[in-house]
Amino acid sequence: MITVGEQDELRALSIAKARPCVLVPTMGALHEGHMALVRMAKSLVRDVGEVWVSIFVNPIQFDRPADLAAYPRTIEADLELCEAAGVDVVFTPQVSMMYASGRSVTVTETSLSKRLCGAARPGHFDGVCTVVLKLFHLTGCDIAVFGEKDFQQLAVIRRMVRDLNVPVEIVECPTVREPDGLAMSSRNVRLTPEHRADAPRLHRALSTAAKEQSVDAVLLSARAGIEASPFAKIDYLELVDAETLQPCMGLDKPAVLAAAVFYGDVRLIDHVRIMPRE
Ligand code: PAJ
Repeated sequence: MITVGEQDELRALSIAKARPCVLVPTMGALHEGHMALVRMAKSLVRDVGEVWVSIFVNPIQFDRPADLAAYPRTIEADLELCEAAGVDVVFTPQVSMMYASGRSVTVTETSLSKRLCGAARPGHFDGVCTVVLKLFHLTGCDIAVFGEKDFQQLAVIRRMVRDLNVPVEIVECPTVREPDGLAMSSRNVRLTPEHRADAPRLHRALSTAAKEQSVDAVLLSARAGIEASPFAKIDYLELVDAETLQPCMGLDKPAVLAAAVFYGDVRLIDHVRIMPRE
């Protein structure tokens, strides 16, 4: 496995590579969710291509400085996991290398990114689109794998790729959960033991609410289920059209019930898909 920190070095590798390349972009603190993406990337390339992982805590996608400062960083363990998983190249750039001082170009998606996490975290998806496009250029990857866990991120990236003719195929990997249902996340390690014990309630509340028969009943049930926790503070709870991410008026089209919830200062997101009612 090659570990590359310098942009020029990565460009040189990317130009020299003769085999197709699948990129798994991450912010590190790798867990089983990330490793499922790596395994999917491995299965896509088989013996004929390479798997590259980027590890970069992207400052411009954080809306709260405290969240950026507290974001877990476990680079040694991450490199060991990548090595064991058969990753070919790990890119670990410094912030100063990725962002020139005085930089003035940002990628903005103006529709799908306006609600849910985009509304709750101003500028978040500009930061995500900008760094992902940069990573695509730097690596020259053919395919990139993203987690369904961040379904809005996936939708925004697919839109960017479509609208800007980015020559990268986007592949989606299902959400990996802890045995108690909590979606794996790098932020989970920052939950207190009490909050960690309570957090699986989020997914249970969404799954239970998804069985209701009207928009209002779904939202009421989900809110009651989440707020049954003494610790959870809802950041947003929305039922949106799976295509447009606009609020649903009825349950006649595929929909997504999505929530962001604070446990202390740790913000967790989760969602469930709701199929159209007969
Ligand atoms: P990060 O949160 O590190 O996630 C990297 C990738 O892993 C994303 O595609 C995310 O959806 C996926 N992922 C995280 N937890 C998962 C889980 N439990 N199951 C399945 N997939 C999971 O998402 C980011 O980083 C950043 O925004 C990034 C795209 C790297 C841009 O900076």
